[in-house]
Amino acid sequence: MRRRTFLKGQLAFGAGALLGTTIAACSAPAASPAQTTPGTTTTMPLDGSESAVAPGSKVLLAYFSRAGENYYYGGRTNLEIGNTEVVANLISAAVGVDVYRIEAEDPYPDSYPATVERNVAEQDSEARPAIAGVLPAVDTYDTVLIGSGIWNVQPPMIMRTFVESVDLSGKTLFPFVTYAVSGLGRTIDDYTRLCPQSTIGEGLAIRGEEAAAAQTEVETWLRAVGLLPA
Ligand SMILES: Cc1cc2nc3c(=O)[nH]c(=O)nc-3n(C[C@H](O)[C@H](O)[C@H](O)COP(=O)(O)O)c2cc1C
Repeated sequence: MRRRTFLKGQLAFGAGALLGTTIAACSAPAASPAQTTPGTTTTMPLDGSESAVAPGSKVLLAYFSRAGENYYYGGRTNLEIGNTEVVANLISAAVGVDVYRIEAEDPYPDSYPATVERNVAEQDSEARPAIAGVLPAVDTYDTVLIGSGIWNVQPPMIMRTFVESVDLSGKTLFPFVTYAVSGLGRTIDDYTRLCPQSTIGEGLAIRGEEAAAAQTEVETWLRAVGLLPA
């Protein structure tokens, strides 16, 4: 198995298998996944005066974010709110979107090295970590903003679970990520491969440490992808 280790300073982000087969990517699952808890989709008020989205068009923002011990300018910090959640909040404050938070049925550890270790194992085994709660009904959305941190230069494996569990065919996906050093990494390639029947639009990469100050970058991106007026 091909392996690599991504190192920055003293911190290993992870190592894992880089290749794997995919199943039923971005199409409806054959059977509903076992979900036992209510979903977490919340509707943000749409201010029509600020949105360039065509009337009747709906936007879903789906994101995964992990609070706890994390990378911070070469050291570590304890995040009360995950960096991607901070960016998701900036997006939902700027445009009308329905927000779905992707949560792991088996929550990731608070510990950074333990999370790195689990991610390595999940990448190596091509795992599809189970999502807690009910998946969103995506049929009414034309556009999906899909966000996560970058784990070992790619979105966490739970994002594969997500795109393989809901039918995103015919929709436009705009990926956004927060990261330490890798930028979008392999995000665009991953979603392009996983979602061949979706259009993958321009991505946004925000450095995790700068998430709270990223409003201008976020709004520039929202304008570029047509969700805010130019
Ligand atoms: C398991 C793990 C692996 C990571 N791997 C990378 C990486 O390869 N490249 C990178 O730039 N950042 C990496 N990071 C840093 C995160 O991408 C960054 O802190 C991000 O903002 C976390 O988002 P979140 O707080 O929303 O989960 C990693 C973090 C974790 C926990």
